[in-house]
Amino acid sequence: MLDLIFMGPPGAGKGTQASRICAERGIAHISTGDMLRAQVADGTELGLQAKEIMNRGDLVPDAIIIGMIRDRLSHPDTEAGFVLDGFPRTLAQAQALDEMLGSIDRTIDCVPVFEVDLEVLVDRLSGRRVCHEAQHVYHVRFNPPATEGVCDIDGSELYQRDDDSEDVVRARYQKQWVEAAGPVLDYYDGRGLVVRIDASLSREQVDAEIDQVIEGLGEAAA
Ligand code: AP5
Repeated sequence: MLDLIFMGPPGAGKGTQASRICAERGIAHISTGDMLRAQVADGTELGLQAKEIMNRGDLVPDAIIIGMIRDRLSHPDTEAGFVLDGFPRTLAQAQALDEMLGSIDRTIDCVPVFEVDLEVLVDRLSGRRVCHEAQHVYHVRFNPPATEGVCDIDGSELYQRDDDSEDVVRARYQKQWVEAAGPVLDYYDGRGLVVRIDASLSREQVDAEIDQVIEGLGEAAA
């Protein structure tokens, strides 16, 4: 079983790495951002409420997010492990997660923290494109699709997220990373779970860094 939390500012590459690792290791990729965008696409009441909040660069209320995660962790595909991508982002979310995991006798193995400077993030997010069908992630320069505007994997059209405009990226970084993430980082740092990753490196270098961290966990457990 491998239970991980990926933390980092917007655009640091959490989703890119989580997708790869979960596919390779057969564990569940749980992205609260993807879950919220699915609600927006379905036009649910929650989606309508969340859309406005996300487009301002603010955090969606804890009660909504905690309820989504509580439900998601009850699905059988999480039994072999999971990567939580974008959760928890507040101390209340971290404490609620502990209570949920405690009730099923599980603990977090490691919290890789993806570190990247703001200007690199703005560049990454202004070039990010995502597919309509399954939110597969591309970049116009760093990871372009074979055919412009079309997902290599499922053929659906690529689009630019509403919250990837430069002003919203800067707001997300300030409000969600600089102002809100500190207590959550301290919470996991205090337990010795945080491993800092230089996520400003190339995709291949970050792949290698993360793989080394995960393999180290297996060796430590053996
Ligand atoms: P969410 O979707 O989680 O956004 P985020 O955390 O801001 O993260 P991103 O998805 O923007 O970036 P990422 O780190 O996954 O980067 P990616 O791999 O795509 O959340 C959206 C919103 O939902 C939030 O703003 C909030 O409102 C709400 N929300 C979500 N969770 C919440 C919670 N728990 N509580 C409250 N509200 C919540 O990579 C970015 C780009 O860079 C891509 O184009 C990629 O191809 C490229 N790239 C990746 N790695 C590299 C590399 N090494 N070199 C070059 N390019 C790279």
